[in-house]
Amino acid sequence: MNAAGVCDYTRADLDAMQNSSAASFVTKSATVSPREGNPEPRYRDTAWGSINSMGLPNFGLSYYLSYVSQAQQEQPEKTYFVSISGFSAEDDVALLNQIYQSDFNGIIELNLSCPNVVGKPQTGYDFETVAHVLDTVFAQFTRLPLGVKLPPYFDLVHFDQMAAILNRYPLAYVNSVNSIGNGLLVNPHSETVLIKPKHGLGGIGGAYLKPTALANVFAFRQRLKPEIQIIGTGGVQSGVDVFEHILCGADMVQVGTALHQEGVAVFERLTRELRNIMAGKGYRKIDDFKGKLKTL
Ligand code: DHB
Repeated sequence: MNAAGVCDYTRADLDAMQNSSAASFVTKSATVSPREGNPEPRYRDTAWGSINSMGLPNFGLSYYLSYVSQAQQEQPEKTYFVSISGFSAEDDVALLNQIYQSDFNGIIELNLSCPNVVGKPQTGYDFETVAHVLDTVFAQFTRLPLGVKLPPYFDLVHFDQMAAILNRYPLAYVNSVNSIGNGLLVNPHSETVLIKPKHGLGGIGGAYLKPTALANVFAFRQRLKPEIQIIGTGGVQSGVDVFEHILCGADMVQVGTALHQEGVAVFERLTRELRNIMAGKGYRKIDDFKGKLKTL
């Protein structure tokens, strides 16, 4: 499926996702009120990946809930994801109240990792706030499955600490990873940054991100209770990348930068490439290799 933030902003984007061979889609991280986001240019692709500082442009949660409501009627066999990104636990409660008052019957992705709003740190790096948000959320909202989108972690102690917090809650899943926040890509010819917001700093996706994403999926799979599933996101450009994410423990895989570069045809290609790899190895189902990465 798509990674939140790619091919999920407008109805036309979501129609393309709905008509693609992706298993599901997630809507753009929504706030209570619509937002225009940061000034352009705010997204650039490069040969190795992408940089973005979108700043949470979105049409507001009701726009996405009404889209999904219709999609649920048209293809009731599919499961849909709605992503929300409040600026505080109170915001998240307001967003969740709105979802619970609608006919939404899918999965909620609580985004704890947007790196692009000026003055707002990434929640996922503030462990006390993560615990406070999840305490607040699960005190009131348990009917619908809810997962969290996390930033990448780079330290084994942080994996231990974050997994210990996450294991306290009835989370449906953990999605690792969001972009590497506040990287910098430079054009050496023009001697400029690539995007306008924040002096050019932005979230890094694509091939740059894959080793970090795989480490996060693998490290969380080793530490999270088995009921918490894992969505692997980061650097998926080929069937081999999907295979590696699943080998590290991903139950599902999302595509961001490659989807932005290639459009929804990417899902057919990735599925075909994954099937070929599986056939070559004699694997008939995902469970034959999921989480079975060998160590030395
Ligand atoms: C944006 C970027 C993110 O990585 C995210 O998780 C949410 C929003 C953005 O800039 O719009």
